[in-house]
Amino acid sequence: MDVINSLRKILKTRFKREHFLAYIKVFGCQQNEADAEKICGFLKLLGFNFTDNILVADLILFETCAVRHTAEEKILAHIGNLKNIKKSNNNIFIAICGCMVEQENIKNYINEKFPFVDFICGAKSIENFPELFYKKLTGEKLNNFCNVPVLQKNKFNAWVPIISGCNNFCSYCIVPYVRGPEKSKDYNQILDYCKKIIKNGSKIITLLGQNVNSYFYNNFNFSDLLKEIDKIDGEFTIRFMTSHPKDFNKNLVDTLANLKHFSGHLHLPVQSGNNRILKFMNRKYTREEYIEKINYAREKIKNLVITSDIIVGFPGETNLEFEDTVSLIQKIKFASIFNFIYSPRVGTAAFNMQDNISHDEKVRRISKIIKIQEEISQEFLSGFVGTNLKVIIEEDHVNKSIARSKSNIIVELKGSFNVGDIVNTKIISSKRSYLIGKKV
Ligand code: 5AD
Ligand code: SF4
Repeated sequence: MDVINSLRKILKTRFKREHFLAYIKVFGCQQNEADAEKICGFLKLLGFNFTDNILVADLILFETCAVRHTAEEKILAHIGNLKNIKKSNNNIFIAICGCMVEQENIKNYINEKFPFVDFICGAKSIENFPELFYKKLTGEKLNNFCNVPVLQKNKFNAWVPIISGCNNFCSYCIVPYVRGPEKSKDYNQILDYCKKIIKNGSKIITLLGQNVNSYFYNNFNFSDLLKEIDKIDGEFTIRFMTSHPKDFNKNLVDTLANLKHFSGHLHLPVQSGNNRILKFMNRKYTREEYIEKINYAREKIKNLVITSDIIVGFPGETNLEFEDTVSLIQKIKFASIFNFIYSPRVGTAAFNMQDNISHDEKVRRISKIIKIQEEISQEFLSGFVGTNLKVIIEEDHVNKSIARSKSNIIVELKGSFNVGDIVNTKIISSKRSYLIGKKV
């Protein structure tokens, strides 16, 4: 811990205090949340506490996303806004981490446009954050830094990265470039970690990876991992994301059907309902195969909640091809979907494909899907009215609490509860995207 002490000393000299405040903003997916919790664990060791007020922070850190151009534009605007904060107090330390700054062109852009940024650490190097931070502050190299603990934002909610990177190279996607190739984490280390956090009160265990299905470590696969975690003593729910439909198979469904702790929620991004588009997206499954997999899962697991991601306006998508996506959504009836307008990403295969659909047309397509899904979601939610649901409290407000069911459905409750409490509720009505319940 000499390293920690020497870093603390540097920080104390810089800020002339014993303790410091960090403002952390996370953009993008749960993988980024998990990475941020890891960084927070390290910062905590250095004497940092955390604040939601950017104006009082000694360290401002953004964990960035690169999946769509709109996200990047938003983040760059946020970085631009830091200029005045830094001007008013030059001591503040500004760090930009994550996927966006894994791209050379963006890194150069930030260095040139925002010279007040002190430190950049791309997604591939996030495991080395302590080393890089040490080098930045001391100018010295550091090898073999000790394992730093994660600092969970919510004690009951645990992100557990099991596989990093992605080998799939879907033609529209930048993730394989910014996060590198797939690498599964040590099987026993994951199990030990799960045992520890469950013992310490974690109620929701979310296994994370761009494609959890391809987890493979010393002959143990994803099903093996699920079965072992399921054996741990305690009251907890197992979630995971994301599953790639090409690898989502009957074996896995059979495993899930026999787990005690499975949440009953599957996020299975289909992206498009048209086979030509799926082929150009390099997704490696067909519409028919996808439907068959869903049918099998629904047959084996009762009350399965299935959600998905959709991209509209992929290069060359005709209106008829788009209508295949519409009909797939109507056929499957997802509980909810995330919709995206295709965003060209430099360096991906799709970037060089002819993108001749007007922006207005893309907006028309996404609006159509949103409207159709709204009706489907409403119908799905109304099916819960009159039933009982066990929920976990996530937010506690003055007269109401926001909770989530095991299978990921949001329930609003009257009255005040403690975050992390598990409450039995009766559902009394349904809204557009959530349920209203009362304690029973
Ligand atoms: N444009 C639009 N949406 C994208 N996604 C990934 N890359 C892009 C892109 N270039 C979406 C996919 C994925 C989700 C996380 O983001 O639907 O499942
Ligand atoms: Fe991107 Fe496809 Fe990998 Fe998902 S599976 S991260 S969409 S390349």
